Amino acid sequence: MNISFIGHGYVGLVTAAVFADLGNTVWIVGRTNEKIENLKQGIMPFYEPGLEETVRRNLSAKRMRFTVNYQEAVSSSEVIFIAVGTPPKKNGEADLTSVFIAANEIGKNLEKYAVVVTKSTVPPGTNKRVNELINKVKSDHVKFDIASCPEFLREGTALQDTLQPDRVVIGTESEKAKKILIDLHKPINGKYVVCNVETAEMIKYASNSLLSTKISFANAIALLCEKVGADAEVVLEGVGLDKRLGRAFLYPGVGYGGSCFPKDVKALIALADKLGYNFTLLKAVDEINVQASRNFVGKIKRTLKPLQGKTVAILGLAFKPNTDDMREAPALIIIQALQKEGVNIKVYDPIAMANANKLLQDVTFCKNAYDAASGSHGLVIVTEWNEFRQLDLNKIMSLLKSPNIFDGRNIYDPVILKQMGFNYYGVGRKN
Ligand SMILES: NC(=O)c1ccc[n+]([C@@H]2O[C@H](COP(=O)([O-])OP(=O)(O)OC[C@H]3O[C@@H](n4cnc5c(N)ncnc54)[C@H](O)[C@@H]3O)[C@@H](O)[C@H]2O)c1
Repeated sequence: MNISFIGHGYVGLVTAAVFADLGNTVWIVGRTNEKIENLKQGIMPFYEPGLEETVRRNLSAKRMRFTVNYQEAVSSSEVIFIAVGTPPKKNGEADLTSVFIAANEIGKNLEKYAVVVTKSTVPPGTNKRVNELINKVKSDHVKFDIASCPEFLREGTALQDTLQPDRVVIGTESEKAKKILIDLHKPINGKYVVCNVETAEMIKYASNSLLSTKISFANAIALLCEKVGADAEVVLEGVGLDKRLGRAFLYPGVGYGGSCFPKDVKALIALADKLGYNFTLLKAVDEINVQASRNFVGKIKRTLKPLQGKTVAILGLAFKPNTDDMREAPALIIIQALQKEGVNIKVYDPIAMANANKLLQDVTFCKNAYDAASGSHGLVIVTEWNEFRQLDLNKIMSLLKSPNIFDGRNIYDPVILKQMGFNYYGVGRKN
């Protein structure tokens, strides 16, 4: 099938590469010549495991084509995916400007029947507006249908998630569009949820909000565990063994970040407010998330005080392992809070240093974890990259000025670390 993707971010480029790998001819439309020229050379705009090889393979096979020209892509495509960003506005609502610009451009360039699919996360009602926008600008003789296929991939495992998703959601009122989309997704293993457009739009927000709720629940339980002397890791393991609940996303830490959970939770709160429903549960989820990083910083502050002139090594900057995405990364909040108190910051991340460099000021970028630990009064684990699980802790001990480990992801065994002579501070664990 000939298909197009508008946007070559984490969602657009990965999904486009997977569909190309499955034998489709895929156009990818971008906004800037420089990025599009780079992509034509196989140079990726971000890091995602396995993506570069997949894109290069499909470039060679001429199944992936990059352009800034909508006409080139849209006019020949049977399915056109909108995969542009929907960042948060100041009031929490999703900013849909890019979606509507894309819809307008698609409409102007449609030459034959196509299904226009919104893959970006958008609030219910958005696809209807996409429909109206396209109708306003398209040629009279051209027919089209709209559909909503929200994306559930996770950065870091995005290719695998796209090929083997838990579910494929297809929201459309059109039988023809439904048939085309089921046909396109046929080689992809996953259960289908075929529904109307608003239901599809809502599934995405409900999913991300519930995942965020689980994380905030784990963090609230962790806070209480610290107060009563319980171990939150064991408590949540005990909870998660109940088949009705499961352990997924019941891990305490420094709070959720990234480009999806914070913005999608806020967008659903804003949507509910607009519709007259006070979504107090989600408001609490958001608040507990803010508290989670604050509580963690509080531990560092109490342990290292007086803070002025102390040095702290931050391990992990990306919002989660296996990505270079720094959007809403908890590391940013933690670093800024410590800098405010006069703490010197040394940082190391295996992949996200270049992106972090654009956002952080007055920090020392280190070549590895040991370099960061050297001369520091505390080692702070913010992102649970695998390489931090394997550190030579005897070496770390010899390099640190004071043997403090603040484990924001509970990756170490407190008993072993204490036996080694570290002062260990995890989340939801007795210190
Ligand atoms: N990143 C994730 O893990 C993830 C997972 C599921 C869903 N989503 C959702 O998917 C959407 C995209 O997310 P992302 O992380 O890929 O965003 P991103 O910021 O990485 O990429 C957005 C892309 O859209 C392009 N773009 C914007 N306006 C454009 C226009 N008018 N024409 C052409 N290109 C345009 C940008 O240049 C960029 O390449 C968002 O709604 C997001 O919430 C993201």
